[in-house]
Amino acid sequence: MSDRIITPKRRISGEISVPGDKSISHRALILAALAEGETRIKGLSSARDVESTRKCLRDLGVRMKKDRKGLVVSGKGKYGFTKPKKVIDAGNSGTTIRLLSGILAAQNFATTISGDASLRNRPMRRIIEPLENMGAHIESAAYKAPLTIHGGPLRSIDYASTIASAQVKSCVLLAGLYANGITRITEPSPSRDHTERMLEAFGVQAQYSQGGAGVKGPANLRATEIIVPGDISSAAFFLVAASLLPDSEITLINVGVNPTRLGIYDALLAMKALIHMDPAEVINMEPRTTITARSSRLHGASLAGSMIPRIIDEIPILAIAATQAQGTTTIRDAAELRIKESDRIAAVATNLQKMGANVRETKDGLIINGPTPLRGAQIDSYNDHRIALSFAIAALIAQGETTIKGADCVDISFPGFFQLLDQMCHD
Ligand code: S3P
Repeated sequence: MSDRIITPKRRISGEISVPGDKSISHRALILAALAEGETRIKGLSSARDVESTRKCLRDLGVRMKKDRKGLVVSGKGKYGFTKPKKVIDAGNSGTTIRLLSGILAAQNFATTISGDASLRNRPMRRIIEPLENMGAHIESAAYKAPLTIHGGPLRSIDYASTIASAQVKSCVLLAGLYANGITRITEPSPSRDHTERMLEAFGVQAQYSQGGAGVKGPANLRATEIIVPGDISSAAFFLVAASLLPDSEITLINVGVNPTRLGIYDALLAMKALIHMDPAEVINMEPRTTITARSSRLHGASLAGSMIPRIIDEIPILAIAATQAQGTTTIRDAAELRIKESDRIAAVATNLQKMGANVRETKDGLIINGPTPLRGAQIDSYNDHRIALSFAIAALIAQGETTIKGADCVDISFPGFFQLLDQMCHD
């Protein structure tokens, strides 16, 4: 585990592209593996989480090779996977374990899938329940990984999820590809819809609406070419950095702007950030464009309800922005943050308090009063990439030096982050 010292910076400027979208990269690998034929993926993220998906698929017999233009995946078809020789390892990645479980539930062999200490502590009942309703049998201790998934024939279900989770929705839809008839899932607020969109790119009609999604099984996937846009969740750190530092302007090119992910843009607009988005181009059903942000006088805002799934990964960095906003920022309905890679509500509140911010933790969110100057501090990343990344941005505007403990966890979603930050910042 390495620590990183960050000193305050005068300004940030320039044009950058961020690594490929992590959510779309996982799905590109998984759907390519399920398809028949070769799929070339361009712009795939090299984040550690995506590597976890790649390794699990390799352990299931999927062959992949890099060429000059991208990664070529030799699809196995829905039933071509082979029983792995050992426990497959999803590392730190909730998306890997939850999406792959939907496929493993339909195989005619048993697989054990596990992950690191953080992943082994995260709730899996949310996928075990619907998959067992479909006919799978899953062994676990207290609904936590390791999961031993005894696959077999599945039946379609109509599932009303009580949480807005794209991982749960995607797990059920992937299992639905194997069942006879329509498998549907509804959710309390719309979560990201990358699986639905990418299924269409692979030739499968996924019916989706604001309230949920469905697939008609059995359905087969047709290999295609996927071009992954930049990750808006990674772009978010630079958008906020440019908003907070004086005399700054940053342009992010080729950023994915799927409406179910655009909450960061809407939240920053609500906070009166000077942010602009060009018209988007759509490839593989996923829009992408250029976003620009510059130094702004931010105002507090209320972030709650159906907005939350659309900013779920950006709340830590929005909390940093809120410390510099005039007035109160209230974040509610975000209890899911407590069961991410770390308890992100506690991690943000504890670390921001160390930096001198006026922040209060509630059971499902945060209340932040601003603006308050921040001072450099010893920040615990809790080995959570989004905490390390967010506080690296806070450190830019702090007085004095900040140490981020366990800073190398940024590689989970954003390899090369510190180098890019160094390049764009001016002392
Ligand atoms: C993801 C969905 C979200 C998000 C995670 C990635 C995905 O999780 O927080 O970083 O790729 O489907 P939930 O579905 O658990 O909300």
